Parts: sequence; C-alpha cells; structure tokens
Amino acid sequence: MTDVPALRRALLVWYDENARALPWRVGPPEHAAGVRADPYRVWLSEVMLQQTTVPHATPYFLDFTRRWPTVGALAAEKDEVVMAAWAGLGYYARARNLLACARAVARGHGGAFPDTEEGLLSLPGVGAYTAAAVAAIVFDRPANVVDGNVERVMSRLFAVETPLPDSKPELKRLAAGLVADDRPGDWAQALMDLGATVCRPREPLCDRCPLAKPCKARATGAPETYPRKTAKAVRPRRHGVAFLVTRDGEVALVRRPGKGLLGGMLALPTTDWRGAPWTPAEVAPPAAADWRPMGEIEHVFTHFALTLTVWRGETAGDVEGAVWTRLSDAGEGLPSVFLKALRAGLTRLA
Ligand code: ADE
Repeated sequence: MTDVPALRRALLVWYDENARALPWRVGPPEHAAGVRADPYRVWLSEVMLQQTTVPHATPYFLDFTRRWPTVGALAAEKDEVVMAAWAGLGYYARARNLLACARAVARGHGGAFPDTEEGLLSLPGVGAYTAAAVAAIVFDRPANVVDGNVERVMSRLFAVETPLPDSKPELKRLAAGLVADDRPGDWAQALMDLGATVCRPREPLCDRCPLAKPCKARATGAPETYPRKTAKAVRPRRHGVAFLVTRDGEVALVRRPGKGLLGGMLALPTTDWRGAPWTPAEVAPPAAADWRPMGEIEHVFTHFALTLTVWRGETAGDVEGAVWTRLSDAGEGLPSVFLKALRAGLTRLA
C-alpha cells in the first residue's frame, strides 16, 4: 500500500526547494504567505501550455500580458489582432475559445473568474483540465489536475501496464487518490514540475526524484518504458502547392475560412491538400505570373503531415480575396506552416 501522506510530504518538500520560477506562478513562500495568483494569468498560461512547452509558451505569455494586462483588455481586443498574436502557438480554435471565454468573464461575470471548478467549467472553451488547473492553482480547491506530465508520473509511480490512451481513466483515478485539502495548488504544480524536470519522458532523473522510493516503475529497473503505449498509427501525408504571389514589393495573403484547420488565420493561397503529390500541369495558380518552383517545406499537424511545394511569381493582376501586405511585414501573424513557406519562397531567391 502506498503511504499517501508520506508521498505527499516528500513531493511538497521537493517543490518548496525546486519550484520553477514561472511568470504566472506564485512560488511556495509567497503562496504560504497568502499571496494568490492572478486568475487571468493562470488561465492564460494553462490554455497556452495545453499545446506546447513552457519555453515555447513563455514569450507568448509575456507578450499577451504586456499588451492585455487584464481579462477585460483582452476581451475588448479585435479578433484578428489576438489571432495574429497567437500565430505560432498552433491550434487556432483554442485562440477563438480564449477570446470567447475572456468576453464571457468580462461581460457576464464583471471581470472576475468563477472560483469553483464547476463555475469555471461553465465558461465557453474551458474544459475539464483548465477548470481543474485554475480552481487548484488560483483558488486552492482540491481539484484533480491531470495533464500529460501527471499521466506519466502516475503511470510510473504505480507501474500501470495498460497502455495509453486506454489507461487515462485509471491514471486519473490514481492521481485523484493523492489530492488532498492541504496546498492543492502547490500539489498540482509540484506534479507538473516533477514531470517536466525529473520524471521526464526519456531519461528520467530518478536519482533526484523525491518519489523514487515508492515508485513501482523504478523498482522494475526500466522506468522510462512507462507509460506503456499502443503502437502509433502512422500519420498520413498530404500534399499541396503554396503560392508566394508578389506585386510591387507586396505579397498576397488570404484569410482562411473561420471554421476548420487554421480557421480565421492569414495564409498564403494554396491548392487543396490531398493524398497524392501535385503534378505542375494539375495546378491552377491564383494569378497569372511566370511561376517558379522554390522548393518544399514540411509541417506536422496533429492528424497529418503536410508537404507544401512553394511556387513564386510576380503578377500585375489581382488574387481573389487577397490582403496585399508589404513583404517585410508579411511574417507577422502568419501560422508557422505559412511562415515556413514564405521563408522558403524568399530564401531561395537570394
Ligand atoms: N504545464 C502546464 N501547466 C503548468 C503549470 N501551471 N506549471 C508548470 N507546468 C505547467
């Protein structure tokens, strides 16, 4: 049987000494002194961190909180401006949900985030994870906060043999068994920090782990083989042609439809993305020009990998729906996939 109180003490002592200094975090000494984290900053950080790592998200977090220091300021911003600031973080539906949530808090709740898990869950775009994280970290509610890091820690601590994703309910139940009324916010963040810095996916640092003693995966001698995983389905590949259309030092950008992948974001015009590569004769460019192939870029989305062949051409005509943008400004607000295509189109010309 796991000695839960001893395990909790060990991890919280470790967190007191090793908590990462993060710009949205109130560290253990301040928290113990009664300082409460800003719900807006914690909510924003959690939404950003659902799709990327702390090092990648941090500059975006600093930029957002400098430009929009409060949820009311963010709520009042134009959609396109926020979408452009989000460019590079991916999962653009999340940025639209972010705005919907900011507006609901600003208008429906007088600018104050609800202080319970259920209240947070009722906000648009706030799912189980975000509600639990904000409830625990900001309001010290004993919520069960389970992200990928916590799943990995649980699967090792208890040597769970069921592979992911089938093991998710079991991992959540195991994590719930460790939550208590004492320091729930610190507990949630301690587990995340442990997963990010010690109980790493590859090469876990068991020598430094405060939970090494009770860890069942460590006892097997191969902790890195947990969590078990089912064989990955191979990602399908799609192919398209992206057009870098220039006209007098400007480039044609288009806005993608509001719904679907990269919805509402600026983009280069492209062909459809399909399973088979395009032959030049099949391609219908968006304007008359002397088209030249500029090479290929690759981008991996969650459900498929994309190869885009980049064509460049100078036109005297127009492109349907184009937002003509100075070449020097064209990278601003472009999702990573189109930034890569733009760079490929420009670099090879040099
Ligand atoms: N990853 C996601 N949320 C986090 C948090 N609050 N602290 C550290 N890492 C995290």
